[in-house]
Amino acid sequence: MTRLLHVAGSDDPAIFEAASLLRAGRLVAFPTETVYGLGADGLNPEAVAGIYAAKGRPATNPVILHVADVAAARALVSHWPEAATDLAARFWPGPLTLVLPASAAVPAIVRAGGPSVALRCPAHPVALALIRAAGRPLAAPSANRSQHLSPTLAQHVASSLGEAVDLILDGGPTEAGLESTILDLTGERSRILRPGPIGPAELAALVGPVDRWEGAVHAGEVQAAPGMAERHYAPRARLDLVAPGTGLPEASGAVAYVGLGKLPALPAGIRGILLPLDADAVGTRLYALLHELDDAGFDRIVMERPPEDDAWLAVRDRLRRASAKERP
Ligand code: TXA
Ligand code: MG
Repeated sequence: MTRLLHVAGSDDPAIFEAASLLRAGRLVAFPTETVYGLGADGLNPEAVAGIYAAKGRPATNPVILHVADVAAARALVSHWPEAATDLAARFWPGPLTLVLPASAAVPAIVRAGGPSVALRCPAHPVALALIRAAGRPLAAPSANRSQHLSPTLAQHVASSLGEAVDLILDGGPTEAGLESTILDLTGERSRILRPGPIGPAELAALVGPVDRWEGAVHAGEVQAAPGMAERHYAPRARLDLVAPGTGLPEASGAVAYVGLGKLPALPAGIRGILLPLDADAVGTRLYALLHELDDAGFDRIVMERPPEDDAWLAVRDRLRRASAKERP
């Protein structure tokens, strides 16, 4: 059995035990305000290699380094632009990851051999206390097997990674429920690589025009932006997106229908699930719901397509990836 310790607050002794495991090169899963992370000493290449092995993550997909403050972030980059100062002042600690040119301090395995590093200062008190207690940046991707749903509960980590993780810190359900916004600051204009809890308008208000990365990388292609595989964040059940109010004419097998704001009439035998027409609330709930439907053995999930406005950008992105069909 994987060890799971409940953490009550930022001075919980479990945090110090976790920190000493991390310093010894072991893997510890911990809560952040977005999803649970699978942490390792970010300056220890062997420890980071353990993350790739535990997740079954391709070596071409770099990992985020989590820091407790701006000073720690600056030590990991060769250039800290003014935009980073402004963004960090406004959004750190919080669900914003900045991609910047890496300094020589960042091991190649963290960068997947590339020239840049992704940095994030998480807002969760347990995450911050853990980084401080470990005394070094923590490499931490989401604590799930590669291509699977991200964990929003400690139990999701245990069932996805099992024995591969030395300790799981259980801080209860995560708040945002979707992964951080990733903003690339290495180019002439800043560019969103992954939409998340902090939207394009909030970023643009601080740093001017922000490009959006719209494409997706299919299996076997060179990744323009690493980790942006089309099928990602996927439940085991088949997920189809439909226009709101479509309902289902008929269905066989175990099918769930997820409505937004209201539920249409459904044939007998179909489980109807109502989510509010509220992007933040759906973001918080989405992965946990997909985990529950997988665990309950549903074969197929039919979900209403969210509205087109920017408030729903991150939810739409995750649903598009979760519903993408496997490519040969
Ligand atoms: O909310 C989050 O960001 C969570 C929590 C645990 O902090 N972490 C997370 O990590 O979602 P992960 O590894 O599941 O997703 C990080 C993404 C990957 O798609 C990866 O390709 C991208 O960040 N990434 C990491 N380093 C990068 C870099 N140097 N350049 C571009 N993308 C990078
Ligand atoms: Mg992930």
